[in-house]
Amino acid sequence: MPTPCDMLVFGASGDLALHKLLPALYHLHRDGRLDADMRILGVARKPLGREQFCSLAERHCRVQLAAGDFDTSVWKTFAARLDYFAMDAAQSADFGRLGRKLGSSCQRGRIYYLATAPDLVADISANLAIAGLTGSHTRIVVEKPIGHSLESARAVNDALGQVFSENQVFRIDHYLGKETVQNLMALRFANALFEPVWRAGHIDHVQISVNETLGVENRGAYYEQSGAMRDMLQNHLLQLLCLVAMEAPVRFDAEAVRNEKVKILQALKPISGLDVQDKTVRGQYGAGQVGGEAVSAYYFEKNVDNDSDTETFVAVQAEIDNWRWAGVPFYLRTGKRMARKSSEIVIQFKPVPHRLFEAGEANRLIIRLQPEERISLQLMGKSPGKGMRLRPLELDLNMAQIEPQSRRWDAYERLLLDVIEGDSTLFMRRDEVEAAWSWIDPIIHGWQEAYQSPRPYPAGSDGPEQAHSLLELHGREWLD
Ligand code: BG6
Repeated sequence: MPTPCDMLVFGASGDLALHKLLPALYHLHRDGRLDADMRILGVARKPLGREQFCSLAERHCRVQLAAGDFDTSVWKTFAARLDYFAMDAAQSADFGRLGRKLGSSCQRGRIYYLATAPDLVADISANLAIAGLTGSHTRIVVEKPIGHSLESARAVNDALGQVFSENQVFRIDHYLGKETVQNLMALRFANALFEPVWRAGHIDHVQISVNETLGVENRGAYYEQSGAMRDMLQNHLLQLLCLVAMEAPVRFDAEAVRNEKVKILQALKPISGLDVQDKTVRGQYGAGQVGGEAVSAYYFEKNVDNDSDTETFVAVQAEIDNWRWAGVPFYLRTGKRMARKSSEIVIQFKPVPHRLFEAGEANRLIIRLQPEERISLQLMGKSPGKGMRLRPLELDLNMAQIEPQSRRWDAYERLLLDVIEGDSTLFMRRDEVEAAWSWIDPIIHGWQEAYQSPRPYPAGSDGPEQAHSLLELHGREWLD
């Protein structure tokens, strides 16, 4: 039975709401996962009427949904759930008007989804409370990044904590909603095979790369404040690192899983002072070619300073100071306007301790999140015929082919349903966010102290040269 509740989406005319949230809600509606009486109220500054908002939402859903997924009759029933309210979320007086619009819908569950600029989070949560719109029947969803440093993240978390209890706050990181990311947990904790070798001694190093071909699109103003470090590495990449490195939780529930993740974040070896120069690389894309098209340099993007020193690429060599991982480097890398879109985790095992055959490569497990979802294990096998000629073989699990009949869920669908059902296992807890910032802050300070400008790299390349040297210095290379 779907859980009864209503949802308010702040920032409803923005990219996140139109490209991700509304299409995800449409899918949930079509699959009968939303309570029949659930209302979805879009809230934004744009002076739109209900009808105009519905057509805006429809236009975007038609484009965003896969061909064949958009059905006009389903849309009609979905649109009947939609409404719109124009207000300025920075003005507390507007929350009184919002309260009147909502009326006294008794204690029916209500979810506030903040798809707004990060600096509005604290104000919105306080204003909701002042207007009497909070209580134990409400939940709030906030997007990353939470703050832009440890101090500001604490301030945002304090502001949320004054109004909501921790189990009402859902800090979303959509990477945790991706199917293959959850499969990583299944792979590790539902198979006995990997556990004995999942540690220093057997693993040489781990690579986590999230490469995008897109630039900053229309988000120059936001991106100038965040850069790749705050936009991607502080959250998505560190969350992936946690799932690779954490110990098996005692139960698959919100507290047990997050307890294990936070231990990893707390065990990250600090990178500060001179280490910042040796273990991190920041880059910024210049003009170049992506997918055969000429694209301009970052500093010519809309709402970006001509002399901006914001990084659009970052690579870091991280280490985890605990028994399982001592001495194993975790190489993290993310960049915009790279040659290819690909997100993957590579677990590079050590070579066999004693070589019997002429050729041989060490085993490698690749967990690919994008563009296709697959998990492959590279092994050595024998070439047919006489003699022991070896060749690399791949055990390949292509997730889309395993259950071709089942639709691939978008990360937001899964996570929105979790919010509706009150399951915060795949959301970040306050201490996780703060532990992540505690590790990130000294790196950002190190860059500032050394006046380290980002290294230029041409759009459509593999990032700056220095990111390759980071691995080459230790006889390794990025595995694409
Ligand atoms: C978002 C970042 O969180 O993730 C964007 O703000 C980035 O800058 C996006 O483009 C990448 O998500 P995905 O799912 O396309 O890899």
